[in-house]
Amino acid sequence: MLALFAVDLAAGKNAEPRPLLLTSSGSLADAAGRVLGPGEFKAGLGETALLHATDGLRSAGLQAERLLLVGLGKAKDLSLDRLRKGAGTAVRAAKSRSVRDLAIAFPEAAADLNVPLAELSAKLTARALVEGGELAEVDWDTYRSDRKDSFVNELTLVSKVADERMEQEAKAGFAEGLIVAAAQNFARSLVNEPGNVLTPTELGARAKAMCVEAGLACEVHSSEKIRELKMDAFWAVAKGSAEPPALIVMTYEPAAGVAEGAPVLGLVGKGITFDTGGISIKPADGMEKMKYDMAGAAAMIGAMHAIARLKPAVKVVAVVCAAENMPDGRAVKPGDVVTAMSGTTIEIVNTDAEGRLVLADGLHYAKTLGATHLIDAATLTGACVVALGMLNAGLFSNDEAACAKFVNALAVSGENFWRLPCTDDYRERIASEIADMMNTGKNRWGGAISAAMFLKEFAGETPWVHLDIAGCAWNEEKKPWIAYGPSGVAVRSILEWVRSYSAE
Ligand code: BES
Ligand code: ZN
Ligand code: ZN
Repeated sequence: MLALFAVDLAAGKNAEPRPLLLTSSGSLADAAGRVLGPGEFKAGLGETALLHATDGLRSAGLQAERLLLVGLGKAKDLSLDRLRKGAGTAVRAAKSRSVRDLAIAFPEAAADLNVPLAELSAKLTARALVEGGELAEVDWDTYRSDRKDSFVNELTLVSKVADERMEQEAKAGFAEGLIVAAAQNFARSLVNEPGNVLTPTELGARAKAMCVEAGLACEVHSSEKIRELKMDAFWAVAKGSAEPPALIVMTYEPAAGVAEGAPVLGLVGKGITFDTGGISIKPADGMEKMKYDMAGAAAMIGAMHAIARLKPAVKVVAVVCAAENMPDGRAVKPGDVVTAMSGTTIEIVNTDAEGRLVLADGLHYAKTLGATHLIDAATLTGACVVALGMLNAGLFSNDEAACAKFVNALAVSGENFWRLPCTDDYRERIASEIADMMNTGKNRWGGAISAAMFLKEFAGETPWVHLDIAGCAWNEEKKPWIAYGPSGVAVRSILEWVRSYSAE
């Protein structure tokens, strides 16, 4: 099957859609155009039309049995991410029809197409197409007896106009896309696992197995080491569960070594494998979703997978704090005061605000391991979902340069993060009468910011980026380009942020 992209050229609000095929093959465009009735295909994002090899298509020299038109939406909105989604749509359409071999016509601007296609390099275009295709491949039916196990065997990008340089670029992008998508799919597979399967110990085992395979150093510690390091904020969360916690440390060193004074990046992930809320227990409705409260950890483990294979010239240390948040006779209680590894005392007002507790020690520990720049990812607050919905994740930072690097990374990753403030005037929100700080805000207003302010304290003077992915880690609705379930959000952006520090 050959997939051909189309954009809607119509300008203006009430204008009729005008699909334009993104192909340099005039006869193919002509033939496909003739087969389509007027108005039959509007080129909306995710819209598809399947044409069988009719005479019109045959005479245009089409060798494929089927031609799939894939809408990318309005021409003016065309972007790398639209191409990613378009490729995903094509793969899912092929998959659902048991088509095993898929070729995508490399999108080429038609002469009258006034869209920024030319700005998209062949490398990034190929990478986005492969990523979109690979991410679309997966359905989370692992535990279903009627699972389909149907996959596209072969994905080819074809172009009529490619010269040698463009072909080289596209090949490099293709290879990179496979690596990035595999890392993101790995993160998604972790997030998909139920809490009874993916315990903190199991998360540690899977991270370790990945590291061994990818050639990364990895240590997985449990309660003893956590207590020895005086990570009492982390321990406060972990101690209410019969499942032991896991402190996972993964290290990547560039082959050429690390120059004196070179940055060391610290990646810190929230790995709550199930969040009941603890003694401040959550309502039953929707609690099953809290198996994905380790998506921040999964993002870091996934990013490390890609880092190991893409080998940027910068040292990276990833720290994952994995625990189960449970109510129990030994669980931490509201009102308890604990001392974090940094020495800061914390009044635990709500045991459901556990993510910031494990991250407090994770951030501090990453600094003791030499991190000069920090990034954390966490399904941290419902308040962030209230603020931004599910289309943007929260972005916070104490440092303009580190934040700018992250914002630049978004242009390649295509992910949506929206910056929220965490200026010092919010600090009073987490002031406690009896300890250095409390683990909730004074009230629920600006809850995502209160959580960020808490973490900021542990980042201290170290440049730090915080990602609150609570609203984006799980796709509540399936889309033409992606299945229902774990999204793998943040893997691509964290990876690009890391690469932006590469000395090369
Ligand atoms: N894991 C939750 C946050 C969450 C909410 C993740 C929705 C994914 C979807 C977090 O541990 C939590 O419960 N936070 C509380 C904090 C509050 C008690 C200050 C919240 O957001 O309600
Ligand atoms: Zn919680
Ligand atoms: Zn949580």
